[in-house]
Amino acid sequence: MEHRGILRADEAANRRDELAREGKQLVFTNGCFDLLHVGHVRYLNEAAALGDFVLIGLNSDRSVTSLKGPSRPIHGESDRAETLLALRSVDGVCVFDDARATALIRTIRPHLYVKGGDYQIDSLDPEERAALEEVGAEIRILPLAPARSTSLTLQKITAAETPAPHRPIRLAVLGSGTGSNFQAILESIDRGTLHAEVRLALSDVANSGILSLAQSRQIPSAHIALGGKPKGLARSAQEEIRDRLLDADVDLVILAGFMRVIKSPIIEAFRGRILNIHPSLLPRHKGLEAWRQALEAGDLETGATVHQVTEEIDAGEIIAQKVVAIREDDTPESLHQRIHRVEHEIFPIAIANVGSALIEKEQDARD
Ligand code: GRF
Repeated sequence: MEHRGILRADEAANRRDELAREGKQLVFTNGCFDLLHVGHVRYLNEAAALGDFVLIGLNSDRSVTSLKGPSRPIHGESDRAETLLALRSVDGVCVFDDARATALIRTIRPHLYVKGGDYQIDSLDPEERAALEEVGAEIRILPLAPARSTSLTLQKITAAETPAPHRPIRLAVLGSGTGSNFQAILESIDRGTLHAEVRLALSDVANSGILSLAQSRQIPSAHIALGGKPKGLARSAQEEIRDRLLDADVDLVILAGFMRVIKSPIIEAFRGRILNIHPSLLPRHKGLEAWRQALEAGDLETGATVHQVTEEIDAGEIIAQKVVAIREDDTPESLHQRIHRVEHEIFPIAIANVGSALIEKEQDARD
């Protein structure tokens, strides 16, 4: 029997039994592997280090289309299988037609099942997980190389091939915290999916992530010492911030976790051009710790909202929203973490949409 290569499910099961007789382990993973990138290479190398034979359950073309839509796969299943088999870490590929690998797992009975780190054990498909438990497979979640994924690769290609329709959107970012949304915005700019430049970063917290990120990228930044009540923002401070924003000549003011309440001097100068990200599906759960509010209310779902900032807190026009399902075992922290991931997805897109519309309007007015 051929030991390396494309295997049918029954051949793969025989291989597993042979390995077991030799006291060896079959490591199984599954996926589409449509555009191979270094994230896959590293993760498969790690998988190889955990056992003696790495078998990939490869979604067939029909299965990829049903999961990802009609534009996928980019490469046909035989090309994808051949590419995978060229990797030193991969020993076998088994193409399967269902959307999920459940039936294949039951046939092959792998000793070990690995999955990339954007999954948690809890987020594995419940049927696949049940099948894995049934056959006694050990489940391991492996870390994924950051910022490498097939969808990112596709976004980069699209951005590279689409000429920028307008000048970069000029942004100022205000924040008080870790700055993970700011980081997501910068990564979208790097990737070319957000055609923008950050001209200024301001924070009311001297050691905030926002300021260190700005400094590491040589983005002009300043700490505005505000003192006073934690959420307060005196009129003189509002005016100072407004003047700095006007000097920087920005199109949009981005509130990425800015914990002070923005008032009329800034709002009047930038009406319709200040965007905030809020961790709930507005208008539900305005104000602080909105994820906790959603949990305490017993909601089944919450999410993230990008909205325009007006004088009324968390009440301006909604620009974008995405739902996050609430799980039975969610804690405020686990829920907040998933909402954060969604924020990172929708905020850059919303900024691109609002900014492009502004610039196009400005161009039309000039023509
Ligand atoms: C986010 O939860 C956002 O919804 C809220 O402030 C937080 C900012 O987080 N407005 P980060 O500093 O971007 O990580």
